[in-house]
Amino acid sequence: MADKLARIQAAFNVTDEEVDRIADRFCQAMAAGLAGQFSPLKMLPSFLDKPQGSESGCYMALDFGGTNIRAVYVELLGGGQWRVVRKNSAPLKHLQGGYDYTGADTNAEELFDFIAEAIINTANPQRELLLGHTFSFPCRQLGINEALLINWTKEIRTAGVEGREVNRLLAESLNRQGGGGIKPCVVLNDTVGTLVTAAYDDPNADIGTICGTGHNTCYYDAERAMIINMESGNFDELPVTAYDRNLDELSEKPGQQRLEKMVAGRYLGALAGLIADDVFGAEFSRERITTEDLAAILNQQEGCFAAGEEWGLRQIAALVVRRSARLVAATFLGTVRFIDPLLTKQHTIAIDGSLYEKMPGYAGHIEATLNTATGKKTGQIKLRLTKDGSGIGAAIAAAIIARR
Ligand code: GLC
Repeated sequence: MADKLARIQAAFNVTDEEVDRIADRFCQAMAAGLAGQFSPLKMLPSFLDKPQGSESGCYMALDFGGTNIRAVYVELLGGGQWRVVRKNSAPLKHLQGGYDYTGADTNAEELFDFIAEAIINTANPQRELLLGHTFSFPCRQLGINEALLINWTKEIRTAGVEGREVNRLLAESLNRQGGGGIKPCVVLNDTVGTLVTAAYDDPNADIGTICGTGHNTCYYDAERAMIINMESGNFDELPVTAYDRNLDELSEKPGQQRLEKMVAGRYLGALAGLIADDVFGAEFSRERITTEDLAAILNQQEGCFAAGEEWGLRQIAALVVRRSARLVAATFLGTVRFIDPLLTKQHTIAIDGSLYEKMPGYAGHIEATLNTATGKKTGQIKLRLTKDGSGIGAAIAAAIIARR
C-alpha cells in the first residue's frame, strides 16, 4: 500500500520542468486559438474593454454560475468603490424544496422564469433598470448582449438552452413575469466579471480567473482592446493519470474540460474518492467525498471519516490539491508569457472561487509555483482575491454599456 501511494504521489507531482512545459504549450494554444486554428482554447471575444474606474450609477446584476443564482442591486460610486443595496441568492437545485433546474428533465423557460422571479424580487423597479448578466459557461458572442451557449459544462443538463441566446431567454422571461422594465444589456463570463471588478481600481489587472466549482481564465488583449474568455478548463495538453481518465469517462461530457476535471471543485472530491478506492480497496464511490470534505480533512477537522481512513485520505487530499494549484499556476504563467514574454510589466491576476479562497494551502501553492518559475522577477505577478467579482463585474459592465 505504501508503495502504491508513493507511485501515485510521483504521478501527481507536477515538477518545475513540467510547469514550464505546460506554460509553453498553453501559450501556443492561445496563439493557435486566436488565429482560428485547431486549439483546446476557444478564445471567445467578450466585446468588452476594461473599465476606466469612473463608471457610476445603479444597476442590476445577475450572477448565474451553475450552483446558485445571485441577483444583486448595485450602486457604483466611481473611483473603484461600490455598494450592494440589495441581494438575493437561491440554489438552482433544492431537492427538499422539490425543484432542480439543472437536470435534463427541466427546460430553458422553466429555468429562466425562476431566475427572472429572483431578479424582480431584488430589483423592485420603479423605472427602467439596466442589467448585466454573468453567465458562466462557454458562449459564442455575436455582440456585447448576444451570447449563444455553445455547450453546458460543470455537469448542468437543462434542456433547450444549448445553441440559444441566453439574454433573449432572460428578457423574454422578465417580460412574462412583469419585469419588462429590467433590460439585460450585457452578458459576460464570470472570469471576465472578476477581471473587470479588479480593473475598476487596479490598472495592472489583466488576467481574471475562477478557481471554484469550475475553472477558467480570461485575459485583457491590449491589441484587440478586449477581454478574451479562453475557456481554459478545456485545455488538454496535460500529464493525465489513469484516475483522470476514469473520472473523465464517468462524467457527463467525456473528452471535454480535461483541465477542469483535474483541478476544479466540482471534481476534486470525486478524484480523491477514485484514488482512495484503488489504494485502500475502500468503497468511497465518486459521490461520497466532496471537495469540502477534502478541505475539512486538510484542516485536520476530526470526525468526518473513520479514524483508519483519515490518514490516507489526508495524503490523497494533499496531492490532488497541490497538483490542481500547480497546473492552474502553469496556465497563468502561460498567459503572462503570451501577453508579456519578457515579463517587463506588473500583472495582477484577479481570482475568485471557493477553492482559492477556502482550500487550505491552495493559494500558497499557486504563489510558490509562480515565484519559482519567475525567479528574479518574482513579485511582477500578483494574485488578488476578488470576491463577488462576477456579480459586481456585471454591474460595472452594464455601466460601461450605459456610457456608450
Ligand atoms: C466552467 C465554464 C466557464 C466558467 C468556469 C468557472 O469552466 O465553462 O465558462 O468560467 O466554469 O465558473
